Order: sequence, then structure tokens, then C-alpha cells
Amino acid sequence: MATLLIDNAAEVVTLAGPARARVGEELAEPAIVAGASVFVRDGLIEAIGTGSQISDRADAETVRIDAGGMTVAPGFVDAHTHPVFAGWRAAEYELRVMGATYEEIAAAGGGIRNSVRRTRAASDDDLAAIGLRNARVFLEHGTTTIEAKSGYGLSVDDECRLLSVIRRMGIETPLEVSPTLLGAHEIPDEYRDRPDAYVDLVVDEMIPRVAREGLAEGCDVFCESHVFSIDQARRVLVAARAHGLTPRFHADQLTRCGGAELAAEVGAASADHLEQLDDPGIDALVRGDVSAVLLPGSVYHLGLKRYAPARRLIDAGAKVVLATDFNPGSSPVPSMQMVLSLACTQMRMRPCEAFAAATINSAYALGRGDRVGSIEPGKQADLVLFDAPDHRNVPYVFGVNHALVVVKRGVIVADRRP
Ligand code: NIG
Ligand code: FE
Repeated sequence: MATLLIDNAAEVVTLAGPARARVGEELAEPAIVAGASVFVRDGLIEAIGTGSQISDRADAETVRIDAGGMTVAPGFVDAHTHPVFAGWRAAEYELRVMGATYEEIAAAGGGIRNSVRRTRAASDDDLAAIGLRNARVFLEHGTTTIEAKSGYGLSVDDECRLLSVIRRMGIETPLEVSPTLLGAHEIPDEYRDRPDAYVDLVVDEMIPRVAREGLAEGCDVFCESHVFSIDQARRVLVAARAHGLTPRFHADQLTRCGGAELAAEVGAASADHLEQLDDPGIDALVRGDVSAVLLPGSVYHLGLKRYAPARRLIDAGAKVVLATDFNPGSSPVPSMQMVLSLACTQMRMRPCEAFAAATINSAYALGRGDRVGSIEPGKQADLVLFDAPDHRNVPYVFGVNHALVVVKRGVIVADRRP
């Protein structure tokens, strides 16, 4: 029997609590135990507490980690990523720095279509190497579970190819992966003048094949004025649900186009971005029990000023989640630690609220809240040891990687101890 003792941490941020997402004031109840140890057996958390009642469980075979002076928290659950793409887009970054907008670059054939051309041309091996490398980067920064979207193939075969690479990320590395079909990410070059015909392809061929082959858990669509309309998004999400894929989608990011209401209407698990959300939209999410996935990395990176209304969402009782939106265009950040910093500084979330939104709430948004997202007996031992004496240091001291040791299912998967 494999056992692990994480001994004498300055703080263990357990996030213990009810078996559902945290809302309202619960977000600020991280259930921290000071001076605590965590004992793990066969990949599961067995006990948390102070003093010898925990350390006495260890025997000669137990792997021991001295967590003195450190903060232990659940592994981050990143509920929105785009991790498989060929090539970065640094030239577009420079154009945006000089004043071009994301939409202007897209209209000129750049943006997502730039990545699609290069991704289609890449070999399976090249794409797998990229996906596996990104999986390691997530793990090294303390993320132990991700949702991962396709979306840079935009043909039936290429989207399935990307979903196969995403599956390999979860098989060939310790990272746990929830795959999402994002066939409706952009209108591909060959369908520019007939977007509805592309939506037909997604609805009639792509979604049925992905569902039949078991390649995805969820289905997403980029609903935005320069991409897919609300009516087109509805067609995609209704078809997804009919085929057993969980709807979740890019809503109300650059323009307020009714994404929150559509999310509630189709029973989406989450509506993501939401920078333009207003009070009726917040009501729709709360009434529809839709998680609000906030992605401040994209606001920061696009040089925009308007972040999602996190405080109003919390006050209204919404299930607030934080994620990176890791992608080569709008949010090239794999680090949830940086996202926590943005959430606190720019959206006025308290550090404890940001931790809850990035662990237990994201776990529930991905349908995994019963297994991951908190440090409680019986749960999977997905843990991060931060080189930080207090959980608040993680967002407060930004731009560095505080994750010193990362544990997935009870096994050390990243270790930067000297
Ligand atoms: O979440 N919104 C659509 N997708 C990404 C951008 C992807 C890209 O630019 O490559 C996003 O912002
Ligand atoms: Fe995204």
C-alpha cells in the first residue's frame, strides 16, 4: 500500500464543505487548518489534522514531505483551456501592442484561422509533443486537472485528431483531462461565405461522430459578433445536448449578445468569459444554475479594461469559477497562480475566494466535485505545496511559480525542491 505524509504545513487550505459549489459568503470560508499534516493512502486522502494523530499513521515505507513553512492546497482545476495548437502568434501580439484589435486581426485572416492553418499542417507527432509539453507546464504550475478544448482543426477529421491528442495528454501524463469539442471556434477559410453550412457540418457530422467515438465530455461554441451568432450557437448546443455532450460556451466576452440567457436556456454547465455581463445576465445564470467561468488572463493580455463583474456575481449567489483560457491568441497563460493574482487585484476577489473558485467550484463545473477540488478524506490526493507561508502569498507575490511540489493521485508529479 503506497502512503504519503505531507508533514506540518504552515497552512492546509482544505476547502472542505458542502458537496456542491461554494456561493456567496461560503466562497470566503476556505476551511484552513494551521500547522496541519495530510496523510494519503493509495492515491486518496485518508486524514488531515494536527499533531501525532496524523504522523503516527506513517511507517517505514511512507514517502514523507516536510511541508514546514509551506501552504498546501488542492491541485488547481483549470476549467477552460485550449492546449493543442501549432505555433505561437507573437507577431500578432506585437500588432496588438501597436494598436490593432483582436477582431481586426481575425478579420484579416489572422487570429484563430492563423493557428488553424498551422495546426492542420502539423503532424500527429508534432501535435502530441505540443500537447504533452503543455500538460507538463500545467502540472509544474500546480494544475492537476484541466478542461481541454479542440478548436484549431475546424474539419471533422482535424477536430477528432485534436481530441485524440487531448486524450493522450490525460493518458501519457499524470494530468487529468476533460475534453471538449470546440468545432464552432471560428468559421474556417473554406466556409467563409457560407457560415450556416459550416454550422450544418458541426451539427450533422462533427458532434455525432465525436459523441459516437467517445472523444469528448463537453461541447463549446465561440458565440461572438464576429464569429457565431446566438441562433447558430443555440443549434450547436442543442445538438450537443441531444448527443450527450455537456454544453459550455464562450459567452458575452467582447459584446453582450445574450450568451448568459442562452446558457440558461440550453442547460449549459458553464458560461465562460462574461466580461460584458449585466444584471439581467447575472440573474439568468443564477436562475439557470450555470457556473460563471471568469478568465481574467484574456482581459489582461488583450489590454482591455473591463473585467467580468466578479463581485456582483458573488453577491448574487452565482457559482463563480476561475480559469486560464490558455491559448495562443487571447490568453497565453498556463498558470492559475497568475489568474488568481489578476482575480484578486483586478476583480477584487479575496485570495480565499479565488482559491475556492479555482479548485472546488471548478471541479463541480467539470462534473468532478465528488472526487477533486478539496482536501477531504476519501477524495483524490491532488495537492500542491506552495513555497508560501500563507495562501495569500500566492496571488500577492505574482509572476513567479510558487508551486514547489505537486501531487496527483498520491504520486509526486513535479518537484522543484532544492
Ligand atoms: O477563449 N474565444 C475564443 N477562443 C479563445 C481565443 C483563441 C485564439 O485566439 O486562438 C478565447 O479567447
Ligand atoms: Fe477560450
